[in-house]
Amino acid sequence: MNHLISMRDLTKAEIQQFISTAAKIEKGELQPDLTGRVMGALFFEPSTRTHLSFETAMKRLGGEVISMSGTKGTSVEKGETLADTVKVINQYSDIIVIRHALEGAARYVSEQVTVPVVNAGDGANQHPTQSLLDLYSIYKTQNRLTGLTIALIGDLKYGRTVHSLVHALAHTQPKFYFISPPSLQMPRYIKDELREMKVDFEEGEHVEDVINQLDILYVTRIQRERFADPVDYERVKNAYVISRALLQNVKPNLKVLHPLPRVNEISTDVDQTKYAYYFQQAKNGVFMRQAILSILLGEI
Ligand code: NCD
Repeated sequence: MNHLISMRDLTKAEIQQFISTAAKIEKGELQPDLTGRVMGALFFEPSTRTHLSFETAMKRLGGEVISMSGTKGTSVEKGETLADTVKVINQYSDIIVIRHALEGAARYVSEQVTVPVVNAGDGANQHPTQSLLDLYSIYKTQNRLTGLTIALIGDLKYGRTVHSLVHALAHTQPKFYFISPPSLQMPRYIKDELREMKVDFEEGEHVEDVINQLDILYVTRIQRERFADPVDYERVKNAYVISRALLQNVKPNLKVLHPLPRVNEISTDVDQTKYAYYFQQAKNGVFMRQAILSILLGEI
C-alpha cells in the first residue's frame, strides 16, 4: 500500500490491519519508531483534530513535522500551482498528509510525488483516515463490526466522513438508516454502489423513528462551507439536535459518534451520558494515525 486516498481502494484485510495495528499501539504492544522521518502536513482547508492528531501521532512515534495551515503566508498566494507546491514538499518530507477543498486533490497529488500521500479530506468526497478511526471506535465500543444497526444523520450530501464511512462498513453486513432533510440525502452514486454490494439501507427524515433500534448513531454537522446559496443553509441548519431526552429508551450499547466539530447538532447535556463517545473517538484518532503513518512508511 503506497497511498491512502479513498476507502474504496482498501481491501477488508487492509482495513483489519489498520484496526489491529491501532489496537496494539494503544495497548503498548507495538511501538513503531519513526525517528528521523518527516511528515509534511498540507492543510488547505480548516482543521483542528485531523491536523493536530496527525502531528501528535508523528511526534509520539519519534518523527518530525512540517506544516501548512491555509495558504496565507505561502507561495500559493503568489500563484504557485498545487502540483509545484507538492513537488517541493516532496523534497522535504517522507510522507505528505493533505486536506484540500477540491475533490480528487489527494489522488492528483499522489500522481505528482514519490512519497506516500494521505488524504485528510478532499472536498465533499472522502476522508479515509476519519473512517478508519470511526471503525476503530465502533469496534472498541461494540466488540464487533459485523451486523450492526447504524444511523447516519445530518448532512449526508456534502459530508465526506459519511461518504467514506459507508464504504468502510460496506463489508460488515450493516443495517444503515440514512436520516437527513430531503435536500441533503446521500448522493445517488453512493446509494447505487451500496445496492450493487447488497448493503441494506433505508432513508428517512426522522431520527425518532429508528433511534431505539440503533447500535451506533453517527451525527454530522451541516457543511455550511459547501452550500452554493447561504439561504439553503439557513433552511436546514437546525434540522437535527440530539438531546438527552431523545435517548431515553435506546439500547444500552448505543454509542453516539460525531467526527466533530459540532455546531449545535448534539446538545451538551448528552456529553455526560454513557452514550456519548465523540471525545474518546477523537482520542482514538491519534492511535489510528500512528498506525497509518507506520504502515505507509513501511515500519509495520
Ligand atoms: C470533519 C471534516 O473535516 O470532514 N472533521 C474532521 O475531520 N473531524 C467533519 C466536519 O468538518 O464536519
